[in-house]
Amino acid sequence: MKFFIDTANLAQIKEAQDLGVLDGVTTNPSLMAKEGIKGEGNILKHYVDICNIVTGDVSAEVISTDFEGMVKEGEALADLHPQIVVKVPMIKDGVKAIKYFTEKGIRTNCTLVFSAGQALLAAKAGATYVSPFIGRLDDVSTDGLVLIEEIRTIYDNYGYQTQILAASVRHPMHIINCAKIGADVATCPLSAITALLKHPLTDSGLAQFLKDAGK
Ligand code: G3P
Repeated sequence: MKFFIDTANLAQIKEAQDLGVLDGVTTNPSLMAKEGIKGEGNILKHYVDICNIVTGDVSAEVISTDFEGMVKEGEALADLHPQIVVKVPMIKDGVKAIKYFTEKGIRTNCTLVFSAGQALLAAKAGATYVSPFIGRLDDVSTDGLVLIEEIRTIYDNYGYQTQILAASVRHPMHIINCAKIGADVATCPLSAITALLKHPLTDSGLAQFLKDAGK
């Protein structure tokens, strides 16, 4: 399973890249705002800065909600850097835009996906990635992992090449369960990735080894 980091924070992206297990980055307008990135020029520069840190795909989201606006924005984003994947919301014009981008060879990430039907439409339109938000489903007492299982089954039934990118991942068990189900990618906060490192028996075992090595 690929690991993406879900942030626009350059220091966190560098830290994850330095760990040697990072396959890409996802951003969204909320994450960009959290870093105080404002104005078109600064936003575009920030995407390039991210691409220059990592070797994998970097999702950059369009703000427009109409077909023409999404196409204009998405083409400009795709022109920025070969690593850019255009992130498009799962709305009617978004599906049309994904189809358009697919035919032009521009890679896409269909975001804000909360149902298997939405994921099926994204795959039929040719999305490179589909982003089911599992944490936000959990927040409303619906098991986000069940959605990942449903999408895995549907995509496998028909051989869709769209990659399942589990998003709104909140903790290490989300990552582990996504890997068990067979999600292609999990995009996670740095804290969830580093939490995978931790086990008290590792800490106590290492302490004992170091103590014994000194004997
Ligand atoms: O990848 C989507 C993600 O940024 C949403 O996460 O925690 O705001 O639901 P969250």
